[in-house]
Amino acid sequence: MSELPGADSEKRTVVTAALPYANYKPHLGHVAGVYLPADIYVRYLRLLGKDVIFVCGSDDHGVPITISAQKEGATPPEITAKYRRVQRRVFDGLGIEFDHYSGTSICPEHVALSQEFFTKIHERGDIDARDTEQFFCTTCDRFLPDRYVEGTCPKCSAAGARGDQCDTCGNSFEQTELIDPHCATCSSIPEVRETRHWFFRLDRYQEQLETWLDGREGWRENVKNFALGIVRGGLPARSITRDLAWGVPVPLEEAEGKSLYVWFDAPVGYISFTKEWSKAIGDPDRWKRYWQSPESRIVHFLGKDNIIFHAVIWPAMLMAHGDYQLPTDIPANEYLNFAGEKFSKSKGVGVWADDILARYPADRVRYYLAANAPEGRDTNFSWEDFIARNNDDLSDVVGNLGHRVFTFVDRYFKGKVPAGGAEGSTMEALLPQIASHRDRWRKALGRYRFREALGVAVDLARVGNRAFDAAEPWKSRKEDVEKCGRDLAALLELVRAVSGLLTPFLPDTAGKIWATFGSGSATPTPAEIAGLGRDTLADGQPLTPPGIVFPRLELAEEK
Ligand code: 2FM
Ligand code: ZN
Repeated sequence: MSELPGADSEKRTVVTAALPYANYKPHLGHVAGVYLPADIYVRYLRLLGKDVIFVCGSDDHGVPITISAQKEGATPPEITAKYRRVQRRVFDGLGIEFDHYSGTSICPEHVALSQEFFTKIHERGDIDARDTEQFFCTTCDRFLPDRYVEGTCPKCSAAGARGDQCDTCGNSFEQTELIDPHCATCSSIPEVRETRHWFFRLDRYQEQLETWLDGREGWRENVKNFALGIVRGGLPARSITRDLAWGVPVPLEEAEGKSLYVWFDAPVGYISFTKEWSKAIGDPDRWKRYWQSPESRIVHFLGKDNIIFHAVIWPAMLMAHGDYQLPTDIPANEYLNFAGEKFSKSKGVGVWADDILARYPADRVRYYLAANAPEGRDTNFSWEDFIARNNDDLSDVVGNLGHRVFTFVDRYFKGKVPAGGAEGSTMEALLPQIASHRDRWRKALGRYRFREALGVAVDLARVGNRAFDAAEPWKSRKEDVEKCGRDLAALLELVRAVSGLLTPFLPDTAGKIWATFGSGSATPTPAEIAGLGRDTLADGQPLTPPGIVFPRLELAEEK
């Protein structure tokens, strides 16, 4: 199975999740599309005993932040500190465990590294200075970079496009191409003024990018095709500086008062945060083994609106810089919608992570979002479906199986593992099923198919429920107690395996079930995962079942 990414190779992996702008409270769309799949993947690699680090932090610079700061009457450092806290609280509440969570305005390594990217690319001649025409608002007395100006998209004619990108069609363009531009702050019609900016010659990387993208095997089609489409459509040089004080200063004397474009410094954060983490753990060069060694895998998790930046512009920056490895994979997701509509703070459409966590345990949220992951297509959140999937799958299938098996073992076998084995037994029938489910699970996770892998774990519990029914322990306990014990011993192996396979998805509850079997830890070791499908539980071993772990959920009154 050596073709599986991350499954069998001995390589190291750095996993990143898109740096959230430090100006919002995460909703379930963010969680389902980016942070949860990244966390599941990291937990999966750890279960296999791989060397993996999980890096994230807030995206603090640029116009998105200065606009929010202005709206909330705060300074950019205040607003970024506030939302960094909010976001961390949500991620902690959901059990999303980063090795390091920083922020682009607080990481001591970040400014120097972002400037180094600029300088190195500039020195090799791939950054040009150009006198450009930019919108200037005379009422606000400033240039209007990016979101400071709004208008109609020149590519798809949608209203509400921003100066740097249209959210409707995903295209980016120069702001002066906007139709009917107006200042986003005061609605005045801006005038055009000349100002000098620096452009990254993406056009010079077009061929290299196309060849590289074309050769990416196993990438999600949506990611690869979208990126290839952009590259083949022709890459213009792109402005990477802004007339804005809040950001990484452009490292050129003649660029005083200008900052790097936030999308130039943000992805560099993945590396600068890893450097910061290395220092924090007292091994300052450790980051190099993740970012500079061809033996390392670099996996970026993000939503589809970020594909252009991670699959086109960031790789071009890395190619131009030359000292770092290119991304290995970019398993970008589509969107989770709410009742058919895009999540939207301004329209009040959607569900916010802190609200749902106040009502339901994190694992129930994780379950629904992973079972309904927007992989390859948009999916939909509904409260009814949230309750139904949790009850139908976790309560009625997984919970019910555990409850029935543990109750019988407790009542009729003193809560100890009964003697198993024997030819033609349930054990003989179930062990290969456990092993094959484990293999399917592993293959699916190795290919970032989270929904499928979770389905395999629940399906194994269904196999267990059918085997329980077929074994009829309520009869055999009276007629042939040894057979009853053998059947239950096999079912215990299966319950244990289900909990092992659920571990990356439901770390808390799966851990409680796993701990029943007395291996001393709530997390399986790589050897224990590899050993699923073997008869491992010792006869007579006492069990400490966790009680009801998946009580049926009720729809909360107000939502
Ligand atoms: O779309 C966003 O929220 C951006 N802040 C993502 C940045 S990802 C990375 F490149 F840092
Ligand atoms: Zn204005």
